[in-house]
Amino acid sequence: METIKRTKVKDLLKSEPGQDVLAKGWVRTKRGNKQIKFISLNDGSTIYNIQIVADTSKFEESLLQKITTGSSLAVRGKLVESVGSGQAVEIQAAEIEVLGECDPVRYPLQKKDTSLEYLRTVAHLRLRTNTFGAILRIRHNMAFAIHKFFNDNGFVYLNTPLITESDAEGAGDMFEVTTLDLTKVPMKDGVIDYSQDFFGKRTSLTVSGQLEGELGATAVGEIYTFGPTFRAENSNTPRHLAEFWMIEPEMAFYDIADNMALAEEFVKYLVQYALDNCMDDLKFLNDKYDNGLIERLHSVLGVQFQRVTYTEAVDILEEAVRNGHKFEFPVHWGTDFQSEHERFLVEQHFGKPVILTDFPKDIKAFYMKQNEDGKTVRGMDVLFPKIGEIIGGSEREASLEKLEKRIDEMHMSRKNLEWYIDTRRFGTVPHSGFGLGFERLLLFVTGMANIRDVIPFPRTPKNAEF
Ligand code: 4AD
Ligand code: MG
Repeated sequence: METIKRTKVKDLLKSEPGQDVLAKGWVRTKRGNKQIKFISLNDGSTIYNIQIVADTSKFEESLLQKITTGSSLAVRGKLVESVGSGQAVEIQAAEIEVLGECDPVRYPLQKKDTSLEYLRTVAHLRLRTNTFGAILRIRHNMAFAIHKFFNDNGFVYLNTPLITESDAEGAGDMFEVTTLDLTKVPMKDGVIDYSQDFFGKRTSLTVSGQLEGELGATAVGEIYTFGPTFRAENSNTPRHLAEFWMIEPEMAFYDIADNMALAEEFVKYLVQYALDNCMDDLKFLNDKYDNGLIERLHSVLGVQFQRVTYTEAVDILEEAVRNGHKFEFPVHWGTDFQSEHERFLVEQHFGKPVILTDFPKDIKAFYMKQNEDGKTVRGMDVLFPKIGEIIGGSEREASLEKLEKRIDEMHMSRKNLEWYIDTRRFGTVPHSGFGLGFERLLLFVTGMANIRDVIPFPRTPKNAEF
């Protein structure tokens, strides 16, 4: 084949007709008759395909037969104005090379639609579907926008460890990391002798980079992390993954109000960025899966998120129950909200995103700043329509004395946390931060219903294939 530079489909569709072009990609469909074949080619650069028109008299029958759904091609030809429906341009094929054949009998992705559940079992082909092409491009755009937002605002990207000895959230649902031989674990005085393990102590995969993030923030002012996070909670829900990505900004000199303002500005920026940069893919997802998607994205931009305390929210929920609303889980002061409660507040009561604050201290982590009432802490959760909690964060307890007391009350080890407590010992400052679940954000932005479908290789209980 004559060597000219390949043009991506995305750019071809915007190009002026008349030029000689080279396209490469995978066949989505082939149709036509004895004289002429129409081939839809997609290369993943856009949701749209480029149409290839092949005059059958110019090509060997054996070559044309190899062009089946899923096969990969290089096509050189003239870009011409398209007479058919759809796009402005198409390629009149002069040369076609089949790069990779695709056995139509064994190929599991035929034209007919395949369910998202089924696709999860064929990882390599799943990513080649229109749906996953759209999701991967949106996911990339959101990751890029996150770095851009923080970079433009003077934050430093801090890489925190994935292997850690501390349970930041105190929830205890961690995956252990060990090189000990599990068939003969060394014991000493009736307990596992971790001194013989790789790190000489018990270590796990991190549930959050926050504690290390606080060290960064109290050094360079404003940092963010963006990395994988691991939780061994056995929750098989459409909103939980065992391995998910989290963005955790942490800011010195921010109080809870500054923290809320940043969280609101940040998510609005991301939603706006998606609308500005991913419209083709959003339209596809809107039409195929969720007709309210684009409208819902616009709806969070035009409003101020509702700020409401946990105690006020309990009153609202109890009032709803008195008025006959049925929740699956009971609600009273002191309980952690379920997503049905969060969604009631957002979707039915306020009709906009909600920032819940000032939770009972017993349902929150040790590091949250304690309020004067002795009962609540300055935590904040951002709740979104259709999702529930998308962000969790707080102002941090800056007082050495109060922090140490809380660690003791919660029966955590002060010794293991000395490195962290030192930030309060030497030049402590008021500071705050939060964590945005990347896949929860993507659930909102793509309108997908299941969190497994917004990450290329999902990890959930009993599932770590591919
Ligand atoms: O509320 P979480 O547990 O907060 C923290 O980890 C804090 N250290 C954050 C901070 O203040 N720096 O988790 C934060 C967010 C949640 O709001 C949710 O969006 C997401 O992480 N998340 C999960 N996403 C997917 N699967 C899971 N199992 C998740 N657990 C939490
Ligand atoms: Mg939370």
